[in-house]
Amino acid sequence: MGYKDVYSSWKADPEAFWMEAARAIDWDEAPSKALFDRGNDMYEWFADGRVNTCWNAVDRHVEAGRGGQVAIIHDSPITGTLHKITYAELRNRVARLAGALRAKGIEKGDRVIIYMPMVPEALEAMLACGRLGAIHSVVFGGFAANELAVRIDDAKPKAIIAASCGLEPGRVVHYKPLVDGAIEMARHKPDFCVVFQREQEVARLEEGRDFDWHGFQYGVEPAECVPVEGNHPAYILYTSGTTGAPKGVVRHTGGHLVALNWTMKNIYNVDPGDVFWAASDVGWVVGHSYICYAPLIHGNTTIVFEGKPIGTPDAGTFWRVISDHGVKSFFTAPTAFRAVKREDPKGDFIRKYDLSCLKTVYLAGERADPDTIVWAQDQLKVPVIDHWWQTETGFAIAANPMGVEPLPVKIGSPSVPMPGYDVHILDEGGNPLPPGELGAIAVKLPLPPGTLPTLWNAEDRYRKAYLTTFPGYYETGDAGMIDEDGYLYIMARTDDVINVAGHRLSTGGMEEVLSGHPDVAECAVIGVTDQLKGQMPVGFLCLNAGCASDHSEVVKEVVKMVRDRIGPVAAFKLAVVVDRLPKTRSGKILRATMVKIADGEDYKMPATIDDPAILDEIKTALQTIGYAR
Ligand code: COA
Ligand code: AMP
Repeated sequence: MGYKDVYSSWKADPEAFWMEAARAIDWDEAPSKALFDRGNDMYEWFADGRVNTCWNAVDRHVEAGRGGQVAIIHDSPITGTLHKITYAELRNRVARLAGALRAKGIEKGDRVIIYMPMVPEALEAMLACGRLGAIHSVVFGGFAANELAVRIDDAKPKAIIAASCGLEPGRVVHYKPLVDGAIEMARHKPDFCVVFQREQEVARLEEGRDFDWHGFQYGVEPAECVPVEGNHPAYILYTSGTTGAPKGVVRHTGGHLVALNWTMKNIYNVDPGDVFWAASDVGWVVGHSYICYAPLIHGNTTIVFEGKPIGTPDAGTFWRVISDHGVKSFFTAPTAFRAVKREDPKGDFIRKYDLSCLKTVYLAGERADPDTIVWAQDQLKVPVIDHWWQTETGFAIAANPMGVEPLPVKIGSPSVPMPGYDVHILDEGGNPLPPGELGAIAVKLPLPPGTLPTLWNAEDRYRKAYLTTFPGYYETGDAGMIDEDGYLYIMARTDDVINVAGHRLSTGGMEEVLSGHPDVAECAVIGVTDQLKGQMPVGFLCLNAGCASDHSEVVKEVVKMVRDRIGPVAAFKLAVVVDRLPKTRSGKILRATMVKIADGEDYKMPATIDDPAILDEIKTALQTIGYAR
């Protein structure tokens, strides 16, 4: 069957399609049907089945005689270590960890926050939660204590599992003090913390509250897998929206298992036993789906890579890892390739390694610019596949299904919708637009299994954020078009979300921080185009009348505030002081026009602008920091 047949077979009978895919999962009790329509646009998949994620990701492979296969390779050029864990070892480690968590009172439905760098123990903590039916929420290490505190107050975890430190090139990230600070800031207090002490930094433990990862497992009874309902949340993953309050994307257990398993062969074209590598971070959705869950559920070997595309030690790291471990499918973000290309444009490092194992490269997380794709294709001589998805969906909305049928690559397009997604381009009034016309990208409800059924404890916000603008559809927040051949093109976000080095950030969240500075009367943050990171945030500050502070001091202070409150990952380094902000007559800040000015693009004078002269002032201000040339 080719792509068209597979897609039409899904469209003809979605429930039969997903029930068939569900046969690849071990159920304790098979679901009676696929889709549960809860009314009012709320849907769940496989709700009455009973199943365990950890069993499917670990134990069943051991039972099937694959216990000796390597499940996880930890390759850390930062610490200079390499460590392989077989499926049998993984089962023992996870069962013991789960047993220790259970002994401290963690049960099905309890939340556990995981704050760990790229070490196998991060995956083990996720799987141990799954084993007990506890709901994990992994927080990315590049966020500051305040962001962690916000997530603690929303998820109300019974426990936090953290590492003593993370390692960035040339810098130790002190995780434990961040955890302590976050707990102090948060209103909700977890019962206890478990700390994985790394040899690079041993953290201070608080007597009675904090337990050592190894010590607290001593003498415990290993835990068996606890079957849960198909609609039991497997995890919550917070992502940026329009405001500073992150959205807690919920992932239900049954659909997550079925959909992810389906993607491994059909999209990524790997078979059980093949080595699959997603060079992302466990704190992001790519890390959840394609470092941890999908490869393990499918019986692949996954790589936990603690390093950067460049500088650890050089621009050949990716190729060294692929060659050393026999990676067949490799997944990264375009920004990582841009970094490598900048250091090694001719691909000298690529030719140092035997890459004959590598069959396909996948890119996602941000728009893949044609230069980067062409460079990668020319250098690596394998298909370079752009695919489009979001934290909310958990797997690709559009991709080139390499395991079904490799479709011709159209550079600039993440190819075609995957089964499960009925994608439409709509105008502002919600009317479908013809091929080639730009509009909002929306997906007809219901979304497929594995996508978000709601937001954590925030159904109203879920409806408002995704279901209200276009009744009957899920609003993706992306704008784009579909061509005559059914290929999608993703052009821009329709909201305040920006994408910095593949990291999703909210400009609204940054504005909330800037407004907190005592000298700032009004502010705006926009995402300007950046050659390496795709976008970079730039802040505009209007200071209070009569403010005597030195402008450059205020700029320094707000840069520090964003780093302290949101985290280094915001990469907020540029801000300018202006007298006023361009606005419509109704007071809306003209951010899109400001972005065009910064990027040196032509723009139409907005008809509703209050005072056109302000745009020249914005241009002059941007020129002082090297933009709007
Ligand atoms: N823990 C703590 N800090 C982190 C971090 C983590 N896990 N990840 C990044 N940071 C810090 C960085 O050290 C940097 O701090 P600095 O301001 O002190 O230099 C800051 O956050 C910004 O990081 P980043 O935007 O990633 O830039 P970089 O200069 O460190 O690296 C790239 C640039 C392109 C090499 C890098 O962004 C990269 O590899 N990106 C790939 C992105 C990716 O895989 N995304 C996943 C989505 S698929
Ligand atoms: P995240 O939730 O962090 O995965 O970010 C999702 C957003 O990143 C999407 O809504 C898009 O704006 C952007 N994105 C992800 N993949 C792509 C892609 N292949 N092409 C263009 N934009 C993408």
